[in-house]
Amino acid sequence: MKRLLTGLQPSGALHIGNFFGALKPFVDLYKEYESYLMVVDYHALTSLRDPNKLRENIVDIVKTYIAVGVDPEKAVVFAQSQVQEHTELAWILECLVTVPFLELSHAYKDKLAKGLEANAGLFNYPMLMAADILLYDTDVVPVGEDQRQHLEYAREAAAKFNNAYSSTFKEPKEIINKEIAVIPGTDGKKMSKSYNNTIPLFGSKDQIAKAVMSIVTDSAGEKPINVWNIHKAIKPEKDIEALYAANAGKYKVLKDALVEDIENMVAPMRATYESLTEDDIRKVITDGSEKARTYASAKMADVRKKIGVTI
Ligand code: ADP
Ligand code: TRP
Repeated sequence: MKRLLTGLQPSGALHIGNFFGALKPFVDLYKEYESYLMVVDYHALTSLRDPNKLRENIVDIVKTYIAVGVDPEKAVVFAQSQVQEHTELAWILECLVTVPFLELSHAYKDKLAKGLEANAGLFNYPMLMAADILLYDTDVVPVGEDQRQHLEYAREAAAKFNNAYSSTFKEPKEIINKEIAVIPGTDGKKMSKSYNNTIPLFGSKDQIAKAVMSIVTDSAGEKPINVWNIHKAIKPEKDIEALYAANAGKYKVLKDALVEDIENMVAPMRATYESLTEDDIRKVITDGSEKARTYASAKMADVRKKIGVTI
């Protein structure tokens, strides 16, 4: 079986855009591979400095993945910070690449362009991500389009090491599903936690309703396009066409229908989410990290020997 690995930043509450764009595609795919699902808490440290929030987000993201259908018996679910080999290998890879090479990173350049403080962690981000992937001889990495360059960095880091020493790392391939639709937010732009336009995935029904009622509708249109665009992600278009035709211009009726449909979709998953305790999640992460460490430490023993630091 080929090995699949992906990483999720514990950077805040998940929304229905994340569900359709990342969670559901992962659930549909992971059983076809030997899968590793990692919470990249050290990557989140490049932007999050509140320890309580970070801890909360780590638990929340693992809870969410289990609630949407990931079976921790069938995938290795673990935390990056619990397997120290990740930061160790990142350093070694950083010593193989140049500053101008890392300066080409779009993610880094975007942050600079926005005038955000660029800490050195942000600059080295691609090498920590390369280490995450290369440590496990990963074949495929499912990610969004925005991560394509990070996979190129990972392949380049593997090649640099293999050339400098000897063949050690596999060059991984990205899986980018272009068919996945971008879910719009309540203002019609891409739904994103940074735009304050989200519908929370596991909010209460009231919170979902509040978000749906805030969807921007223009008074001229018969069909509220922003409501329709979110609705068609939840239900096939043919199942909602008649509803929209019968209620042209009646935005409240259509929004109420959307609230019900979101609620029906999330309620069973939310029940699982709410039934999971912090202890359950701690056990999942501890067991998963133990398995990941077994693989990673064997790989690092080989790396240490090759670079000449074994005494
Ligand atoms: P956000 O934009 O809220 O910060 P992230 O960038 O953390 O979300 O994305 C996490 C995952 O969810 C990525 O795989 C991304 O492609 C997916 N995703 C985020 N927003 C959407 C959206 N509106 N529609 C579809 N997928 C999305
Ligand atoms: N950079 C990725 C993101 O922001 C997260 C990530 C870190 C990752 N390490 C990874 C993804 C390894 C896949 C594999 O989404």
